[in-house]
Amino acid sequence: MSYKRSVSADPHELSPETVWEVQMPAIRVGAGAASELSYQLNQIGAGGDERGLIITDEDLVSLGHVDRVAEELEEDGFDVDVFDDVEREPSIGAVEQCISFVREEMGQNGYDFYLGLGGGSSMDTAKATRAVVANGGELLDYVAAPTGAGEALTESGAPLVLLPTTAGTGSEISPVAILSVPEKNIKEGISSPHVRADAAVLDPTLTTTLPPDLTAKTAMDALGHAIEGYTTHRYDDLLRPEDPADRPVYAGRTGFTEMFSEKAIELLSSNVRRVVNNGDDIEAREAMLKGALFGAIAGLTAGASLAHAMAYPVGNNYHTYHGETIAALTPASTLGYNVASDPPRFAEVAKMLGANTSGMGTREAAEKARDEFVSLQRDLNVLPSGLDELAGITADDVGELAESTVESQQRLLRCNPRPVTKEDVEDVFLDALHNWE
Ligand SMILES: [Fe+2]
Repeated sequence: MSYKRSVSADPHELSPETVWEVQMPAIRVGAGAASELSYQLNQIGAGGDERGLIITDEDLVSLGHVDRVAEELEEDGFDVDVFDDVEREPSIGAVEQCISFVREEMGQNGYDFYLGLGGGSSMDTAKATRAVVANGGELLDYVAAPTGAGEALTESGAPLVLLPTTAGTGSEISPVAILSVPEKNIKEGISSPHVRADAAVLDPTLTTTLPPDLTAKTAMDALGHAIEGYTTHRYDDLLRPEDPADRPVYAGRTGFTEMFSEKAIELLSSNVRRVVNNGDDIEAREAMLKGALFGAIAGLTAGASLAHAMAYPVGNNYHTYHGETIAALTPASTLGYNVASDPPRFAEVAKMLGANTSGMGTREAAEKARDEFVSLQRDLNVLPSGLDELAGITADDVGELAESTVESQQRLLRCNPRPVTKEDVEDVFLDALHNWE
């Protein structure tokens, strides 16, 4: 059954959604959580004499994080290999190299366990590698058609633990691995409950080495997940699928996701200045990790919307970082165009972002969310003032960007709380060229 937003179909055939669900890895959070990794591995079925692979990048090796994790595991009896060739926004070819590494070292059955240590790129490489080794064949067998064959994954494979070193993407809990296809200038995903990790270990001591600009960019991605999740459509705006397996990954907001959004927006917006100014502030780093986790629980369950839909074509065409693209797009899209969908809800967002809205009417308070978000970005001093500064995008480019958004991002646009046409997307791109002068 295909999904429609409308609930006007014959009520005897289709009825509004009444069910929602939550699937999560085991989650361990706090300063020192990474030193409990052996215990965490035991809990998900990896014993003390087994051999595992850390999937990471060279920067994290030179910063010492990889040795720290590997040495502790070896003290507890594990054997650990390291693959440190993860590519930023990994291409299909780069992930295939990781899969080949596993098969050369360990044969078709692969390692006894996997660790993804790093930002979204390391975590997504680890998720995709584990999935393909467990299910056999090649990566392209499982990538969505027409780029790949779109076969379904049926096995989860050996235990996988993710240790994020950024507070942003939410990949540590999401059921998706995003891969770039450089020859087509697009991104594709493999998406399945079998892609999701078994455990996420969030230790702020692994995030203190993240430089201020990347700290700010990844934080804006996390804030985007939280705000988009809070303001997307309700789960019961969709139709209930005949088969629960057909329920979409982005299933709409529920009381559960809203609770996490609210806490995420508060934690992220009230701590990001602190971590950008002082990367060693462990308390604020932990608050950011929790904020990003909560934002992901909300946004990656309820669903991202317009800003994320528009960010993919920008990232694909201009090779910008995902987080800074979200930063540039959020004021005009989520906090601009979408405000009309539910002003009282956006007035709440303004308050969560720290705005003083007392004495204001609902509409004025709702519009304050955008002002507050922009002034937060300006305070951080490392983010672009809009798409122009981000990538030299001009008014001449918005037609093409709007067209590829509408062509390639229906999955996200369909969930946007306010209907969007191609002309609307063009207007939002124009509005996002300059968020401040
Ligand atoms: Fe994102």
